[in-house]
Amino acid sequence: MTQLKNDTFLRALLKQPVEYTPIWMMRQAGRYLPEYRATRARAGSFMGLCTSPDYATEVTLQPLERFPLDAAILFSDILTVPDAMGLGLSFAEGEGPRFARPLRDEAAIKALQVAPLDKLQYVFDAVSSIRRALDGRVPLIGFSGSPFTLACYMIEGAGSADFRHVKAMLYGRPELLHHILRITADSVTAYLNAQIDAGAQAVQIFDTWGGALSHAAYQEFSLAYMQQIIAGLKREADGRRVPVIVFTKGGGQWLEQIAAIGADCVGLDWTTDIGQARARVGDQVALQGNFDPNALFGSPAAIEQEAGRILAAYGHGSGHVFNLGHGISQFADPEHAKALVAAVHRLSRPYHAV
Ligand code: CP3
Repeated sequence: MTQLKNDTFLRALLKQPVEYTPIWMMRQAGRYLPEYRATRARAGSFMGLCTSPDYATEVTLQPLERFPLDAAILFSDILTVPDAMGLGLSFAEGEGPRFARPLRDEAAIKALQVAPLDKLQYVFDAVSSIRRALDGRVPLIGFSGSPFTLACYMIEGAGSADFRHVKAMLYGRPELLHHILRITADSVTAYLNAQIDAGAQAVQIFDTWGGALSHAAYQEFSLAYMQQIIAGLKREADGRRVPVIVFTKGGGQWLEQIAAIGADCVGLDWTTDIGQARARVGDQVALQGNFDPNALFGSPAAIEQEAGRILAAYGHGSGHVFNLGHGISQFADPEHAKALVAAVHRLSRPYHAV
């Protein structure tokens, strides 16, 4: 097994000493990069990229060729899991994702089975291929959606502004939603463990829509299932801990609870002050975040100032992985992303000096 040349990201996740604050960006491989758009045109579609290990490897590495990022993230999508369950995923050009067979009636819900891993082999093949191509440059992050976030797409059949069908089920037939979440949580546990077996060196659970829930519903319908997944994950590979990051967008009010489910790191969106977050979770977990992705539309000088503000708010010592508070916009200027990475690396050194 190749030695990691840069393990700053893994050390920060475990709150071990680092020389500078590591950075990666959610959706770092994507449409804001002209080279990504060119590869996608050759592949024919977004799913064409995901299902080909060669294309997935090529686009995963593209942002690393441009910027000295401290981690790579598997190029794939959270919706591969419900697709493997037979819901029929498609991405129409210029629209979001769509499922041909959303879960709308009791018969369909009762027929739902744990995702067969052989239908997801292309993802594990992509993980192995990316690890080979990285050759120890930086660690590779695997990921999955949270059961609740996946259920939102499985029930609505597409993105939604109000989650009307999901919430109708949550308040009207909660046992049906729990049934979906149980099967999805079992699927995600096996899916993430297979990514770890294939070479993922850290994993992130994206709970993009947990923040749409009420306080009580969040614990019952999102957090509890993420806790169950984490309890079932392999936490070591090649003699090294495989850290787990949990990211609930809009979850700032639940930080203490999220920090207590067994993850190594909690992701923050940009609405929470990272210094206050650190005071609230103490030494329990590392924190990831939390630069407003739309602040990349400011000037390079403004980007640097905002990065400096976040680094100062976190303060001295390890345990901070710099990231955006959500995915990078497709309209972001790659030169501005480059300025952010450089600013974080340069401005963070004094916070790690011994
Ligand atoms: O972060 C990375 O670079 C890794 C790749 C990644 C993608 N999607 C690629 C992608 C990751 C980690 C995801 C996660 C994902 N997918 C989430 C959770 C994270 C989040 O952003 O909240 C969600 C909700 C999805 C579902 C999904 N996939 C949507 C809603 C869309 C359409 C989004 C849009 O802006 O049109 C996608 C498509 C998608 N996934 C793209 C990429 C690069 C754009 C596809 C394209 O090339 O057209």
